[in-house]
Parts: sequence; structure tokens; C-alpha cells
Amino acid sequence: MYRRLERYEQSIFVSIFCFADKDCFGVCHKMFIVLEGIDGSGKSTQARLLADFFESRGILFILTHEPSDGIIGQKLRSLTSRLTPKEESRLFLEDRVDHVKTVIGPAMRAGQHVICDRYYYSSAAYQGALGLDPFEILDHSRSIVPEPDVVFLMVVSVEAALRRIGQSRSAGFSIFEKRKNLEAVSAIYDTFQDNVIKRINGEQTESEVHKEIVNWLNLRGVCA
Ligand code: TYD
Repeated sequence: MYRRLERYEQSIFVSIFCFADKDCFGVCHKMFIVLEGIDGSGKSTQARLLADFFESRGILFILTHEPSDGIIGQKLRSLTSRLTPKEESRLFLEDRVDHVKTVIGPAMRAGQHVICDRYYYSSAAYQGALGLDPFEILDHSRSIVPEPDVVFLMVVSVEAALRRIGQSRSAGFSIFEKRKNLEAVSAIYDTFQDNVIKRINGEQTESEVHKEIVNWLNLRGVCA
């Protein structure tokens, strides 16, 4: 006769409860929020705007990113020559496991929202663009690290992204190589169909994108 509420139903219940009772900190649903998209899609800006929003409301959160600031993440960021796609993929996964263990997990247990700039969808899209199977990467990652509650995927054209990043951030790539790479990455992001993914038109203004993210979270019980 009774069934367990689905997660989104629980969240709607929490939203209604929060709306009815402003003193709702005890029941806020803590979210593991991921921002994804190609370079130049605006995800890091949106991660910061969301962090500012939480801060201004006194909502507990951490803002973090991948590659992480851990030893493996630093190694990934400082690589001067390319590894094989498999080696790259293995290192990103090792970094992620460490990141979950030392940063994401403890924050969630401490009752904080987690805003994470890139997660395993980046590995699937970027290392997938180098020839690995994106869906194998997703399946393998899911068996090892926790799934996010929501993934805001910023959708922008490669043209718009290239305009935003300019040539300065294409270190190591010619503009032609960068375009080919982003096209391949973008095509893989387009194939992701998980329920947790919420696609957002990243070509709107910064504040329109931010509003869309905040509205979505408010409806699911993240207290405003
Ligand atoms: P990014 O967040 O865009 O870096 P920055 O903050 O310096 O702009 O991420 C750095 C690069 O790492 C980006 O081009 C995507 C790549 N990347 C992968 O290839 N695989 C992964 O799993 C992750 C997390 C990132």
C-alpha cells in the first residue's frame, strides 16, 4: 500500500516543509552538486556564483574542483607531456578517489553541501575524446565513487567556448587542435542521458544561468 518516496519526491516534501517553516535547517537536504561542461562553458564561474549565494544565505557548503588540490591532482595539472589516454584516465580516477576520501566525503558527513567543479563526467568526455569508451568510464566510476545528486551541464557551442577562452588558455594546443578536441568532448557530453543531469543553456547571461541553477535547487529543498 505504501511505497518509499523517490528522492525527488522527498526533496519536494522538504521544499514544502521549508516553505512552511523558515526554521528548517534541520531538514535541509544536503546536495552533492557537480558542474560540468567543455572548457569555456562557464561552469567555474557558476560554481563560484553558487558558492557566493550559499555564503550570503549562511548555508553550509564547500566549493571544490577536479583535478583536485591533492597530490595526484597537482601532478595532473603540472604535466608537461601527454600520457596515454589509459594512464590519464587512471590518474584522474585515482585523484577522484582521493578527493572523495579526503574532501567530498568528510564535507557530506559534516552536513555541508558540496559544489564540485568537474567530476567523472569530465573523465568520460575528455578521456573518451581520446578514444576510450565513455560509458565504460562512467560505469567503472560509479562502482567506485558516489554519484552526485545533480549535475548542471553547461551547454555552449564550441564557437562560443573558443571565443571565451581565447588562445591564451589553449596552451599546448593549436587553435585548430583545440577546436577538434572541444568538438569531440562536446559530442560526448551530448550523449549523456543520466537522470541526475540537468542541461543548462550556457549561452545565456551569467545571471540567467545562475538564476536557473538556484531555482532548480530551491525546488528540491536546498534552503534559500
Ligand atoms: P578545468 O577545470 O577546466 O581547469 P582550469 O580550472 O585550469 O580551467 O580542468 C582542467 C582540464 O582537465 C580540462 O581541460 C579538462 C581536464 N580533465 C580531464 O581531462 N579529465 C578529468 O577527469 C577531469 C576532472 C578534467
